[in-house]
Amino acid sequence: MPAEIPLRFVAKDEFATLRSFLEASGYSEAFLLEHFGAVSLHDLLGASGARRQAFDDRYRGEGLPLFLARLFFGGKQATGAELDRYVPAGVQTTLRGTGLLDDAMRCPVLLHPAFGFCIASDRTDYAGADFVMSGAEGLCRQFVRYIGKEPCGRFLDMGTGAGIAALVASSFAREVWAVDIVERAVRYAEWNCGLNLAENIHVRQGDLFEPVRGMRFDRIVCNPPFEPSLTGDVVFSCGGEDGEAILARLIAETPQYLAPAGRLYCQVEGTDREAETLDRRVVRWLGEAGAEHDSALFVRDRYEPMQFAIRQTVLSNHDSAAVEQWAELYGRLGARAVLIGHLIVERHEGTRRSFHLRGQYDPEASIRDLEGCFDRQVAVAGGEFREFRPVLQGGWELHVRHKPVQGDMHPERYTFVTRAPLPEEWDVSPWMARMVTRCDGAITMEQHARWAETNAGVGAEEFAGGMRLLTWAGVLAPSRGEEQW
Ligand SMILES: C[S@@+](CC[C@H](N)C(=O)[O-])C[C@H]1O[C@@H](n2cnc3c(N)ncnc32)[C@H](O)[C@@H]1O
Repeated sequence: MPAEIPLRFVAKDEFATLRSFLEASGYSEAFLLEHFGAVSLHDLLGASGARRQAFDDRYRGEGLPLFLARLFFGGKQATGAELDRYVPAGVQTTLRGTGLLDDAMRCPVLLHPAFGFCIASDRTDYAGADFVMSGAEGLCRQFVRYIGKEPCGRFLDMGTGAGIAALVASSFAREVWAVDIVERAVRYAEWNCGLNLAENIHVRQGDLFEPVRGMRFDRIVCNPPFEPSLTGDVVFSCGGEDGEAILARLIAETPQYLAPAGRLYCQVEGTDREAETLDRRVVRWLGEAGAEHDSALFVRDRYEPMQFAIRQTVLSNHDSAAVEQWAELYGRLGARAVLIGHLIVERHEGTRRSFHLRGQYDPEASIRDLEGCFDRQVAVAGGEFREFRPVLQGGWELHVRHKPVQGDMHPERYTFVTRAPLPEEWDVSPWMARMVTRCDGAITMEQHARWAETNAGVGAEEFAGGMRLLTWAGVLAPSRGEEQW
């Protein structure tokens, strides 16, 4: 496989001049979406037929941002007159020096604005199995939005591709490592670090953790390939026969590389199967390390397997024979549902019992919302949770179903109905429904536990389980005075 990419490094000050020019040019994601009337860059990149024609028509016009959109996004040929009108001579020299402008007056790569950076990657006409995706794709954007962005020490972007998550992390992590098995991805990622003047990113080539053996990270993020091999053998998308091979290896190996309290944020696509749900498989992949790690699978989309197969076949323009291959694969796996979402795994400290949870989240929920759910569980799982003073949260209803008994209405079933971030229905025991009304932040969990024991005969184990459920559902937040999760 050829490892070259059609780009070259230039001196740091030349990159800086080019970057300043791009920053001030108005060539931004907001400009592209507004000018083309596209819902996403993915929409703009992947359009075909009449929609593509409509987009193409809009490439005509005047102005620097539109000129750059033509050249960098649309792959159109520039003229000398346009270059002279819009681009200072020094920047023209850098465009040629970097290879962003070739002899045919075209840009041989896709250079797109994302999250405040400019990212170079392959154009879709590159046909090699080592194709490097742009990160403008819907799932990549989703992945970047859902990585933890609190300041941290050492950060690893596993399967970095063109380096988009590593670049985003360079602003909040002290030291960023970016790994990809594909040499061309490493080249693009390095070049993108150069253009974006990111100096705290170390890019390495290799198979999963092999280039960072022996290191520990405060945060690891990954958007692994998860297409089953029936869709092709392109490295960025192929996740082995069932699509979960890289995910399984990643999760099995992650515990060796997480620092204490370190977290993995991983985008996932996988199947619930007759024999085992996806979240149970995650726990199995963690193996013995599951005892020292908490995990939560946040599901955004859930598809019937054949609905998903047809969707993928249509989106990738494959013929109907592909649907039969999907049906055969899903039949063999005993697939019951295809799930897309985000997984958080955290190495916990001490010897407490781990939690492994799953929830369907509202697509409007942010990563902070999901982290809130996770953090509340960490707080409740900690040994000292009985000192906390739970506080009632908003955004839920309690539905009580009654049935007539001996001429009176008797409450039979208690259900909390929650909205964002986890919109769900949670059947609970009557004591839990009664207890929440007393959670005003003044009474400790210990006192609540005694109340539950005295009034409903609830033992310690059942009480802890009830608190886990109510905090996971977002009905209660454990509070330690000022601190709240
Ligand atoms: C779905 S792409 C994600 C790229 C980028 N992180 C993004 O979100 O735009 C998966 C990436 O994982 C890389 N990859 C696949 N197998 C790998 C492995 N065994 N070790 C390291 N990287 C791998 C691919 O080359 C590709 O860049």
